[in-house]
Amino acid sequence: MKQHDDLSTPKDPTQPIRNPAEPCVLVIFGIAGDLTKRLLFPALCNLGSNGLLDKNFCIVGVAIESYDDKSFRAELIKDINEFVTDPAAKEYGLQLVNRVYYISGDFSDSNVYTRLKNKLSDLEAEKASRNCLFYFAAPPDFMETIATELSKASLLSEKEGDYFRRIVVEKPFGHDLASAKKLNALLLTLVSEKQIFRIDHFLGKETVQNLLAFRFSNGLFEPIWSRLYIDHVQITVAEVLGVEKRGSYYEHAGALRDMVPNHLFQMLSLITMEPPSSFSADNIRAEKAKVLRAVQTLTPEEVLSQTVRGQYGPGKINGVEQVGYRSEAHVSPESSVETYVALKLFLDNWRWLHVPFYLRTGKCMAAHQSEIIIQFKSGPSTLFVDAHEKIKPNLLRIYIQPEEGISLRFNAKIPGPKVELGQVDMKFKYSDYFGIKPETGYETILYDCMNGDHLLFNHAEMVETAWALVQPILDIWGALPPRDFPNYTAGTWGPKEADKLLENDGRIWLL
Ligand code: BG6
Repeated sequence: MKQHDDLSTPKDPTQPIRNPAEPCVLVIFGIAGDLTKRLLFPALCNLGSNGLLDKNFCIVGVAIESYDDKSFRAELIKDINEFVTDPAAKEYGLQLVNRVYYISGDFSDSNVYTRLKNKLSDLEAEKASRNCLFYFAAPPDFMETIATELSKASLLSEKEGDYFRRIVVEKPFGHDLASAKKLNALLLTLVSEKQIFRIDHFLGKETVQNLLAFRFSNGLFEPIWSRLYIDHVQITVAEVLGVEKRGSYYEHAGALRDMVPNHLFQMLSLITMEPPSSFSADNIRAEKAKVLRAVQTLTPEEVLSQTVRGQYGPGKINGVEQVGYRSEAHVSPESSVETYVALKLFLDNWRWLHVPFYLRTGKCMAAHQSEIIIQFKSGPSTLFVDAHEKIKPNLLRIYIQPEEGISLRFNAKIPGPKVELGQVDMKFKYSDYFGIKPETGYETILYDCMNGDHLLFNHAEMVETAWALVQPILDIWGALPPRDFPNYTAGTWGPKEADKLLENDGRIWLL
């Protein structure tokens, strides 16, 4: 598909106009970890090289590893060379390194926070901003400690209109409903909701953000976006990677906790929410939370009939041998942790009543592919009885990654003397229109935190509603350990029970 070339097409619609973010100091707890080098720092380099960071922007890192400013900067330079691809971003990064400061210490040691406070005062005296973003990139067990210690050191109080203090919390936000509620309750005694930015990095993905634009800026789709025209919806996030070095985290998480209440439910809510009355963060978050509250909570019987769990055994992925989950590092050889999950959910509201939503995600699957597929109801086939062809349903596919785009499948006559139908695709690829930018997905997330824009972040209520929906599954799965693990071969599309989940409804996975 080519961009329409009429006179009303703007000159360069691919270039958004953005101003530099508000000045601030970014304090990263756990700065020595993978997240900083692979995602946060490259994202900051991309922002900086596009003129989107304040000229006095600087970073203070806190972590247990024993570096000082000099040795940590040397590490960062190596990381820039490895992970920052764009030359301009690299150049910016090599300058930014000189404005990175390192505090080595234990997150539970109050002295660390005194040193941090002193450092922030010194930086302020040297023209850095008094605004602070405290980014929790530390293991989940430390979140409460860090927040409490920051508060004890009086680092969280802000002065409206003068300077801000914000906390940015990485996922996982709790490990079940009770712990998520506890963490929310604690944070809300220390700061206000508007000071908290709960990250779900899927919301930094352009195609996920585009769901809102696609639905609400096109008159074409919204009128048919309901149970009247939609047969069912499939959401798949398939990964080819295994748990890699994250065995000890994954043993406490599993696919359900790791992916469903956050990434999959974000996509579900964006697909199903009602149009917001404006694009303000409050309105959008309210609509997302509202639709999530409409998801039917599974009864124990439904957990058994509408959910499938799986764990990969050894296999081959793209010709390379893959060990089974139980042989991965830091994983118990008898582990009953799931690496795959499929669910069938229904929503109890006017728009979506009786429309099944099939969600699935897994590690070590046949392909790295994330897609949302909407299958429309078929039209009557009476006209085409002679074609001996049952009319195939129209499909709208939203490609999230690695390819980004949207396609619409419909029926067309196959050329020839007989009336025969074939399926064809109308396809839009992001890269054809907008090029491919070197982005990590964290650029927008960081930029928005600096500007205090909550649109892409979770409200406490959304997090708790999501956990409330998966809690019955966690309970039943916990009470009934799986007896057939491992039940899928690495490099395949998951356990056969997941196929049955759809076959029982006369459907198949479309990916
Ligand atoms: C993370 C999960 O939140 O998302 C990982 O903890 C998963 O297990 C990752 O691999 C997937 O995100 P992305 O952006 O790599 O698709």
